[in-house]
Amino acid sequence: MPRNRVVQVVRFGDADGIEVADAPLPAAGPGQVRVRVLASSLEYTDVVIRRHLYLQTLRREPPFVLGYDLIGEIDQIGEGVVGLRIGDCVADMTVLGSNASYRTLEAADVVPVPEGVDAAEAAAMVLSWTTAYQLLHRAVHILPGRRVLVHGAAGAVGQALLALGAGAGLRMWGTARAQHADLVRSLGATPIDYQREDFTQVLTRGFDVVFDGIGQDGYRRSLAALNRGGTLCGYGYSASVQRGSRLGGIMLAVASVSLRAWLSGKHARIYSINLMRARHPEWFREDLARLFAMLKAGSVRPRVVGRIGFGEVVDAHRRIEAGGLDGKLVLCPA
Ligand SMILES: NC(=O)c1ccc[n+]([C@@H]2O[C@H](COP(=O)([O-])OP(=O)(O)OC[C@H]3O[C@@H](n4cnc5c(N)ncnc54)[C@H](OP(=O)(O)O)[C@@H]3O)[C@@H](O)[C@H]2O)c1
Repeated sequence: MPRNRVVQVVRFGDADGIEVADAPLPAAGPGQVRVRVLASSLEYTDVVIRRHLYLQTLRREPPFVLGYDLIGEIDQIGEGVVGLRIGDCVADMTVLGSNASYRTLEAADVVPVPEGVDAAEAAAMVLSWTTAYQLLHRAVHILPGRRVLVHGAAGAVGQALLALGAGAGLRMWGTARAQHADLVRSLGATPIDYQREDFTQVLTRGFDVVFDGIGQDGYRRSLAALNRGGTLCGYGYSASVQRGSRLGGIMLAVASVSLRAWLSGKHARIYSINLMRARHPEWFREDLARLFAMLKAGSVRPRVVGRIGFGEVVDAHRRIEAGGLDGKLVLCPA
């Protein structure tokens, strides 16, 4: 019988609260498939989850298995599943549980992965690139020529926003540390050094749209960087996680952003991929399938900077939290 290993949070807090453990091999129940995991991303959102600052997983108590997304090969099919076969390669966004050698999935949720694509690159598409695609085309309906500021431009979602934004004909600026300026430029944007420059002073008339997954100062400076009528799209709060803020305060800042925008003649949207998937499951499937087709055609290529084994996961969490990465770390259980 194959061995199952999992990455689990045994204690909320820093990366020392993560352990790799043996686990029973799950069996596919009715309507389910079991997959052998080929690739499962490590994300900044995993840090938010293990620090117990993530709304969707707030009720979970350790131990629980991490792993937001995966690419896997079906090795067992449960009763009543039609249209899927042993050996098919599929993707899913599970929020938890995918940093494992094997897991089960609801057959109705999986998205087929085209043959011949790299599993680690495909894994990067599931959370990071689908988020970027939906921010551009579902949350904001962005038009060519718009002047757009992307925060965290060298990050996983930031790079995807720039790559997809360039294809959509946007004029883009991206905040990143100085060492990532060339990367930001290569993705078609003007770099802004967030450690030395003031992004609110870059355009006198302000940006049309700001995408902000950082949420510095409760998004105040991002709102200030917009022109009148401009739109802030907030989708994360890394700055508050780094500062060790409490979830109540973070949610208050997020909840009040629309009112604050309105008072200054601007607009604000808060995006969550889980909420959008719950409301429009067909959008998630369509958007991910479109991104897989682009990956297969070679028109996009996510940067994967490390394909790691179970033994490197704790260190990978430390690296993600320390910052300075310029691509994804992906667990490839092999
Ligand atoms: N709402 C949703 O559905 C959704 C979906 C996906 C992700 N998210 C959230 O979005 C955020 C970004 O995710 P990610 O996966 O792209 O994370 P990531 O790969 O860690 O990228 C974040 C980037 O932000 C940069 N950064 C940190 N502090 C900054 C600052 N003050 N100004 C400008 N840039 C700064 C980091 O740069 P350095 O490396 O230089 O520090 C890093 O390049 C996270 O909070 C995540 O939880 C939300």
